[in-house]
Amino acid sequence: MRQRVAVARGLAMQPKLLLMDEPFSALDALTRATLQDELLRIWGERRSTVMLITNDVDEAILLADRIYPMTPGPDAVLGPPIEVGLPRPRQRRHMSLEPAYQKARRALVEFLRSFCIGARGRDRRGWHETDCEPAPARPDSAWRCDLPFVEIAQLGKTYETPSGPAVIVRDFTLYVDEGEFVCLLGHSGCGKTTVLSILMGLTMPSTGGVVIGGREIDGPGTDRGVVFQSATLLPWMSVRANVRLAREQVAPRRDRDVESYLASVGLGGMGERYPRELSAGMQQRAGVARAFALEPRLLLLDEPFSLLDALTRMELQDELIALWETHRRTVIMVTHDVDEALHLADRIVMMTNGPAATIGRIFDVPFPRPRSRDDLLARPDYFWLRDSIVAFLEEQAHAPA
Ligand SMILES: Nc1ncnc2c1ncn2[C@@H]1O[C@H](COP(=O)(O)OP(=O)(O)OP(=O)(O)O)[C@@H](O)[C@H]1O
Ligand SMILES: [Mg+2]
Repeated sequence: MRQRVAVARGLAMQPKLLLMDEPFSALDALTRATLQDELLRIWGERRSTVMLITNDVDEAILLADRIYPMTPGPDAVLGPPIEVGLPRPRQRRHMSLEPAYQKARRALVEFLRSFCIGARGRDRRGWHETDCEPAPARPDSAWRCDLPFVEIAQLGKTYETPSGPAVIVRDFTLYVDEGEFVCLLGHSGCGKTTVLSILMGLTMPSTGGVVIGGREIDGPGTDRGVVFQSATLLPWMSVRANVRLAREQVAPRRDRDVESYLASVGLGGMGERYPRELSAGMQQRAGVARAFALEPRLLLLDEPFSLLDALTRMELQDELIALWETHRRTVIMVTHDVDEALHLADRIVMMTNGPAATIGRIFDVPFPRPRSRDDLLARPDYFWLRDSIVAFLEEQAHAPA
C-alpha cells in the first residue's frame, strides 16, 4: 500500500520525466501486476517519459518500449538496446506466446547470461561471447526408489485468529521422489511458506502429516536444509564459521569440506569475511553453501533468490542446479518466478488462492537436462507451458475468495 502511495505521489506531480528505481520489486506478484497496470494506464493517458530500473525481465518486456541491459560493475556500461516490438496494449496472459516477446526475452537473457560465473570471455563489454560452462550431466543411476521419499498427506493448517479459526491450507497431498526438484508456485498469502514451514518442522500441521524417508516428522532436523529469502547468517561469525557450524552438526570437523562448499557457490577465498562485508547475493550464496554443508536429504528453499538482481539470480540458479546435480538432494522450492521454476524444476506444483488453499494443478516440466536457457527459449513448448502456468495464476487472481 505504501508503494502505491509513493507511485501515486510521483504521478500526481504530472512530471514530464518519471524516474523509477525498482519501484515494485519488493512486492508480491499480484500487487506488482496491479501497480504495473496502473502505471501503464496513467502513462497511456499522460505520455510522460518513464525511465524504470528493474531486475525483472518480464516487467521490462511488459512495460518498456526499449530496454538497456547493463553490465555488472565496477565500470558498468550499457549493453546494446533491445527494442520491444510488442504492440500495445500488452496482455500479460498471452504475451509469452508472441514472437516479439520471445525475441526480446532471448536477447536479454543471452546478454545477462554472458556475465554468469563460468561464462567464457567475461570481458565487461564482451556480450557477444555467450558460452557458459555446461552443468555436469546427472549420473544415470537408479536414484529413484519405489516409495515416495516425501509423503505429504492431507495436510491442513488452521490458525486461531481474533475473528475465529482461519483455514489457511487444506487437503494438501503431494508425493515427491528422492532426487526430485519440485517448485511450489502460487499467489502471495496462499500458504506456500506455511506448507514449507510444516516440512521444516517449525509449524505443526492441524490435520494430516509429513513422512520423510519413512519417518514422520515432528520437529526440525538436520535431515532438512533450509534457505530463506534472506540468508539469516550469524552476523558475529565469519562466513566460513557459519558454514562450519552447520557442517559440524552432521560430520566431524574437516575444513576441506567447508572450503569445498564455499568454493562451489563462488565464495572460495572469502571465508574470512563477515556477512556485513558481503553483498546480498554473496550472503545468499553462503546460505546455500550452509544448507548443502548439512548434506540434507531434503532441501527446502523459500524464495531464496527473490531479492536478488536478475544476473545474480541466474548465477545462483546455475550454482544451485550444479550442486543439485552433484549431490542429488531432493529439493522443494517456493518461488514466484515462473521462468525460475521452468528452468529448475522437474514438476511445478500450483497452489490455489486462499483461504483454504490446496494444490490446483501440477505441471510436469519435460525439458531434458542439463538445461541451458538458450535451449529452453528456443523451444515452442517452453512458451506453451509458461503460458499455461501464467494462465493458471491469472485465473486464481480473479477467482472469488
Ligand atoms: N501465525 C499466524 N496466524 C494467523 N495467520 C497466519 C499466521 N501465519 C501466517 N498466517 C496467514 O496465512 C496465510 C498464508 O501465509 P504464508 O506466509 O504461508 O503465505 P505465502 O504463500 O508464503 O505468501 P508469500 O508469497 O507472500 O510469502 C496468510 O494469509 C497469513 O496472513
Ligand atoms: Mg512465503
